[in-house]
Amino acid sequence: MYKILHREDLTPNIHLFKILAPAVAKKARAGQFVILMVDEKGERFPLTIADWDREEGSVTIVFMEVGKSTRKLATLQAGDAISAFIGPLGMATEIDKVGTVVCVAGGFATAIVVPVARALKQAGNRVISIMGFRSKDLMFWEDKLQEVSDELIICTDDGTYGRKTLVTEPLREVLETNKDVHLCVVIGPTNMMKFASETTRPFGIKTIVSLNPIMVDGTGMCGGCRVQIGGKTKFACVDGPEFDGHLVDWDVLMARQKSYLDEESISTELWECSCQNQMGGKS
Ligand SMILES: Cc1cc2nc3c(=O)[nH]c(=O)nc-3n(C[C@H](O)[C@H](O)[C@H](O)COP(=O)(O)OP(=O)(O)OC[C@H]3O[C@@H](n4cnc5c(N)ncnc54)[C@H](O)[C@@H]3O)c2cc1C
Ligand code: FES
Repeated sequence: MYKILHREDLTPNIHLFKILAPAVAKKARAGQFVILMVDEKGERFPLTIADWDREEGSVTIVFMEVGKSTRKLATLQAGDAISAFIGPLGMATEIDKVGTVVCVAGGFATAIVVPVARALKQAGNRVISIMGFRSKDLMFWEDKLQEVSDELIICTDDGTYGRKTLVTEPLREVLETNKDVHLCVVIGPTNMMKFASETTRPFGIKTIVSLNPIMVDGTGMCGGCRVQIGGKTKFACVDGPEFDGHLVDWDVLMARQKSYLDEESISTELWECSCQNQMGGKS
C-alpha cells in the first residue's frame, strides 16, 4: 500500500497528493508517469510525476477529477493509502542546452510542465513559459512556473486573469519576436497540443508534446496506447509519452481517446449512485 503523506486542493477539482513511494522517487525524472490503482478492484490509470523528493521517498501527483477513478482518488485524505503505484514509466524528457525554450502549459498540465521547465532551466536554457486556463478560479502554480521561467505569460479563455486569449496567440508572438527559440514543449489538452503544434510548424521549431492515450499496463504489453507518429505505430507508454508534435496523427489519437466514452459515463454514474446509496444508508 502507498500512503498519502499530504493532500492539497489546488482548485475545487484539481488535487495534489504526495505519496510515499521510495522506489519510484529514487528513479523519477521529468516527463515520466506512474500507473496507479486506488484499491485492489480499481482500474489502472496513468498520472504524470509532477515532483519527487528522493530523501523523503515521496512522489507528487496532480490530477483533475474527470470520471470514476479520479473522483474515487479524490475521496482519499492524507493518511489513507492507495493499492498500486507503479513507476517511473515512460521515457523521461530529453533535456539539452539548446538556447531559448518555450514551455506551454494548459490547465492541470501546468503541474507536469513545471519539472520539465525546471530541468531545462537547470541545463542552462532561457525559458519562456506560457500558461493557459479557462478561468482565474481554475489557476494554480503561477508562482512555481514563474520560479523556473525567465518570462511568464498567462492567459485565460474568459479574461478573468492575464490576457484574454488562447495560448496559441502569445506563442506565435513569442516566436515572431524571439528568433533564438530552438524548442517548444507543449503539454495540455489534446486540442491545445494539436493547435500549438500547428502554430510552431511554419517556424520550423521542434515541438515536443506529451500524449495521453488510454493506457492499461503502461509497459508496452496491451497495445491500448498505440499512436501514429510520422506514419509509424508507436506505444505512448514505452516510446513516449513525449513525441514530436509535428508528426502526431491527431485525428487517430482523438478518435481512440473516445473509444470507451459510453462505458466511462456508465461507470461514473454507477459509482455516483453507489456513493449516494452509501450516504443514504449512513444517515
Ligand atoms: C501518460 C499520461 C499521463 C497523464 N497524466 C495525468 C496527470 O498528471 N493528471 C491528470 O489529471 N490526468 C492525467 N492523465 C489523464 C488521466 O489518466 C485520466 O484523466 C484518467 O485515467 C481518467 O480516468 P477516470 O476513471 O477518472 O475517468 P473516465 O471517465 O474513465 O475517463 C475520462 C477520460 O479520461 C481518459 N482516460 C480514461 N481512462 C484512461 C486510462 N486508463 N488511461 C489514459 N486515459 C484515460 C479518456 O480520454 C476518457 O475519455 C494522463 C494520461 C496519460 C496517458
Ligand atoms: S499501455 Fe499497454 S501498451 Fe501502452
